Amino acid sequence: MRRIAPTAAASRLDAFIERERVRVDEALASAAAEIVSPVGGALRAPLEYALSTSGKRLRPILFLSAYRAVAAPSDVDPSPTVYRLACAAEIVHTYSLVHDDLPSMDDDDLRRGRATVHRVHGVAPAMLAGAALLPIAMELIVRESRALGFPPERGALLVRELCRAAGADGMVGGQLLDLEAERRVVDETMLEAIHRAKTGALLTASLRLGAIAGDAPEPALEALTHYGEALGLAFQIADDILDVTGDAASLGKEAGRDRELRKASYPSLYGLAGAQSLARRAANEAKQALGELRSPVLLALADYVVERRS
Ligand code: IPE
Ligand code: IPE
Ligand code: MG
Ligand code: MG
Ligand code: MG
Repeated sequence: MRRIAPTAAASRLDAFIERERVRVDEALASAAAEIVSPVGGALRAPLEYALSTSGKRLRPILFLSAYRAVAAPSDVDPSPTVYRLACAAEIVHTYSLVHDDLPSMDDDDLRRGRATVHRVHGVAPAMLAGAALLPIAMELIVRESRALGFPPERGALLVRELCRAAGADGMVGGQLLDLEAERRVVDETMLEAIHRAKTGALLTASLRLGAIAGDAPEPALEALTHYGEALGLAFQIADDILDVTGDAASLGKEAGRDRELRKASYPSLYGLAGAQSLARRAANEAKQALGELRSPVLLALADYVVERRS
């Protein structure tokens, strides 16, 4: 995760976030091996393919950062089981990407630097592997919550949180609004609602899951929710900007697709400079929302989502 002209403190945070990403990769690989290996038949190969691609792992990193902020003393690392629990949001995200790339949606050939799941394994296996990832994520929450000795209500709360963010009022609902807005004129309110739902909901849930896992008091949960909502908007505006300014080599996905598909995007509605200033404003709002919970990592992540190059 690169930043522009890092200071010494920012470099230390970058190194920390990079270490976190490596540990998330290990946890995801171990969870996938355990949960996906028993899957037989033709579903196994597309599932393994989807889960083996490398991403920024922002959602589990947000989970862990929220968890650390509310539960763990700053010098103590969460247990490997907590890292595995954090991967549930990444698995739902992975499913959303598999479906997002399908011919009936954004019709993309490249994702995370590799051919998309449907290009390698076919459309129907990709659709079904995507669908299978959702219950896999829920099963992971149940297993890891039990392993951590959480009271049953906490496990149920985690499942409900992730289901809501992934569902009709969250990611899935937002994805349909996004498709309906193609080739149409949408206003500022609608565009913001699309971005908050299709992307913001899962990013916010990642933080809330970490906070709930850490048994956060209500004010901390609320602060993290507001932080997540603003950060989620900033993140998707930055994604729209990178679609204009980035290239396939750095993004790992084709650039210029929003324009080709005539998507409703921040650069198309506000221009590039307007989109950049709205992304920055949302990132600053995220930082403000932290209030007393001003964890250096969460502050750095708010900057990262708008400064990133991939
Ligand atoms: C891409 O998400 C899809 C959006 C929600 C914009 P990321 O940019 O987090 O993708 P990966 O996980 O790093 O590949
Ligand atoms: C995707 O938004 C949001 C999801 C829920 C996956 P985009 O369609 O802009 O994501 P990219 O640009 O393909 O990664
Ligand atoms: Mg899309
Ligand atoms: Mg897309
Ligand atoms: Mg995009």
